[in-house]
Amino acid sequence: ALVTSKQMLLDAQKGGYAVGAFNVENMEMVKAVIAAAKELQAPVMLQTTPSTVKYGSLKTYQALVAAEAEKAGIPVCLHLDHGSSFELAVRAIQAGYTSVMIDGSHEDFEQNIALTKKVTEVAKACGVTVEAELGKVGGKEDDLEAEGDTNTDPAEAREFVERTGVDSLAIAIGTAHGFYADTPVLDKERVSEVKSLVSIPLVLHGASGLRDEDIRECVQRGMCKVNFATELRVAYTEAGKKLIAENPDMFDPKKMGGVGMEAVKELVKNRILVCGCDHKA
Ligand code: 13P
Ligand code: ZN
Ligand code: NA
Repeated sequence: ALVTSKQMLLDAQKGGYAVGAFNVENMEMVKAVIAAAKELQAPVMLQTTPSTVKYGSLKTYQALVAAEAEKAGIPVCLHLDHGSSFELAVRAIQAGYTSVMIDGSHEDFEQNIALTKKVTEVAKACGVTVEAELGKVGGKEDDLEAEGDTNTDPAEAREFVERTGVDSLAIAIGTAHGFYADTPVLDKERVSEVKSLVSIPLVLHGASGLRDEDIRECVQRGMCKVNFATELRVAYTEAGKKLIAENPDMFDPKKMGGVGMEAVKELVKNRILVCGCDHKA
């Protein structure tokens, strides 16, 4: 059965590593992520954004992930990424997601607290874990785009966590979704500052395009979950493009999906090793 993110993130916090959280779009990506985690005996989170949910459906992804997780026999959590409303978070819980993010980072502080609190109350009653975001991760994820100085304020983070009762918190330290146009300037010291004031696991968004050593340092300083999305989509799509370029007459979806799956699996194995969560299942 799918598990919540509670125990796996607390174990990661205690053990000084992070759980890899991977955005999936289709069956092939689901299978690739779980196969990679199984091979490395890693706990793993699979997540879908609202636009992905719209492309498939909550029930479809839940059934796919639950079936693959059961075969694999490792702890697998299915998480709603950047949940855009109270309603969507509740629908995800109803569909069997074991963790939800409510992203109120575009709201002001008080409204973010009110929205997040509403979700944590329902989720707690259903035994589901909640991630929230304070500060703004840059770049574009789905329809949300952030600009300007939006790094998380440590004192605000403490108050936010106390007042909302969330299980984990995404913080902004100069990170952005997608690849980085210029070398990202990360305020890694800020991770330590927030960690010194906040006891719950912290979450690093926007990991595509970060150097391995930057991810490792953020994990050492207290990030317990690291999100990877764009680079998985790129790996999947590039593998398919290469196959078509080399075999223009090919028309088997299994071959298309197969090369994408292999490429995503290899990438995810690499990311699991960077997060240090291998052999922690
Ligand atoms: P990237 O697309 O930069 O990997 O960001 C992933 C993410 O934060 C998903 O929520
Ligand atoms: Zn994100
Ligand atoms: Na990124």
